[in-house]
Amino acid sequence: MTEEKQIKASSKNGQVEKTISGDKIKQLTPSQIVAELDKYIIGQNNAKKSVAIALRNRWRRQQVPDSMKDEIMPNNIIMIGPTGVGKTEIARRISKLSNAPFIKVEASKFTEVGYVGRDVESMIRELTDLSVTMVKQEKSELVQKKAEENVIERILDILVPPMKKKVSIENESSEAAKAEGGGSQMGFTLQVEPVDEKSEESNQKTRDKFRDDLKSGKLDSRNIELDLAAEAPMLQVLGPIGLEEMGLNLQDLFGNMMPKKSKKRKLTIAEAKKILVQEEAQKLIDMDAAIKEAVEKVQNSGIVFIDEIDKIAGGNKASNQSPDVSREGVQRDLLPIVEGSTVITKYGPVKTDHILFVASGAFHVSKPSDLIPELQGRFPIRVELNSLNEEDFYNILTQPQNALIKQYRALLNAEGIELNFKEDAIREVAKTAALVNEQVENIGARRLHTILTTLLESVLFEVPDKIKKKKIDIDRKYVNDKLSAIVKDRDLSSYIL
Ligand SMILES: Nc1ncnc2c1ncn2[C@@H]1O[C@H](COP(=O)(O)OP(=O)(O)O)[C@@H](O)[C@H]1O
Ligand SMILES: [Mg+2]
Repeated sequence: MTEEKQIKASSKNGQVEKTISGDKIKQLTPSQIVAELDKYIIGQNNAKKSVAIALRNRWRRQQVPDSMKDEIMPNNIIMIGPTGVGKTEIARRISKLSNAPFIKVEASKFTEVGYVGRDVESMIRELTDLSVTMVKQEKSELVQKKAEENVIERILDILVPPMKKKVSIENESSEAAKAEGGGSQMGFTLQVEPVDEKSEESNQKTRDKFRDDLKSGKLDSRNIELDLAAEAPMLQVLGPIGLEEMGLNLQDLFGNMMPKKSKKRKLTIAEAKKILVQEEAQKLIDMDAAIKEAVEKVQNSGIVFIDEIDKIAGGNKASNQSPDVSREGVQRDLLPIVEGSTVITKYGPVKTDHILFVASGAFHVSKPSDLIPELQGRFPIRVELNSLNEEDFYNILTQPQNALIKQYRALLNAEGIELNFKEDAIREVAKTAALVNEQVENIGARRLHTILTTLLESVLFEVPDKIKKKKIDIDRKYVNDKLSAIVKDRDLSSYIL
């Protein structure tokens, strides 16, 4: 059976089918997910496998009968590994693969309820905002064609107004109206004058001609005056803390009470098209349905990535804790969200039971077992990521679709120059990265960024003014010339590389 048929066969109610079929292109099997991740991330196979299973399990859960569905918990994961080895990158890629709302937060940014700082619930609100934006975007793509058609008609009506049946309003006394027998109670009558057929025909012809020109873009550079909704005046209100955090925006509350102002603006037709298409698309979207879908999407496929979770783990308790905000307090606040609770957002209540949480941390000083037991229990899957060696660096420089060397090659290509990295040069860069990581500080693959910018700085600066060549070779000698002096001097390399 094909994937699609499976979905059809196993979804009983329309609701489920709708949300799933929306994402069906992205429903990859675990090994397909790993294969996708392999395009961007070198090594770290255990971590890739775990996230692939977690992702697929969410889809599997959607197929399960409702009674069982609520019992199945997401496979929350803790990724453990030094900095710069791909933890964040893996999370970022799975969010793209699964087309799911994704948010990355730093655990250390949160504070206990009652202290100044972000409360943990805000991440769910942000995630919901994101989901609404995603769904709106999807929906407006669906109505794009219709919106474009409407825009053409709107602009056309400004350029060549359609002939209206001429309506004149005559004020009469109600006596007279009554006498005629046909007057309105308002005290005036509407008279419809017959329109001259010829002029109507020519109006129609002109409109057809202009419509074609509008569509083909012939008129794009012409100016037009539009009535555009003016931006609502900025309300800068310092409410009690928490109002904004609640996701309630005073502007939203009061904005609707104020009269809508519009402003005349002169723009080119091309610009007008762009602005109006968005306006028309908004009108065509059923916002209530979109919001409902967005909330479902968060609840069933949202992903929260909590970075630096080790920073809120107990560790050496007494010593370096600031007295006012306890890390354990943040963990206690986090717990209900990870366990499943309802967060009030401006789009309504959002249940967190089936949101996938992926946490990550280096856990140098603390260990996952330093987290409060309840939280440990909610992150049943632990994966370790390896630190990267010279061979990994070589692969990272060359293999991923977005590999750094490919990026620089593309940048210089924009200047019409071919950047030719020789094999031995790449080896040398990888070796240098490993060396500096060992000598100064291990920052993983991030080291490659700093090394390559240092290496290529002069080229990037001197192109195209000073360097006129069509092809630039980077070989081992070039790398050594640029880097060896810095590498040898520890002080220097800790600043530059
Ligand atoms: N295994 C890897 N394969 C490819 N690129 C990597 C790998 N590890 C790290 N990188 C690159 O290094 C940078 C930092 O990685 P990141 O995932 O943010 O590190 P962290 O593990 O600290 O979250 C990113 O640009 C990422 O693309
Ligand atoms: Mg990170």
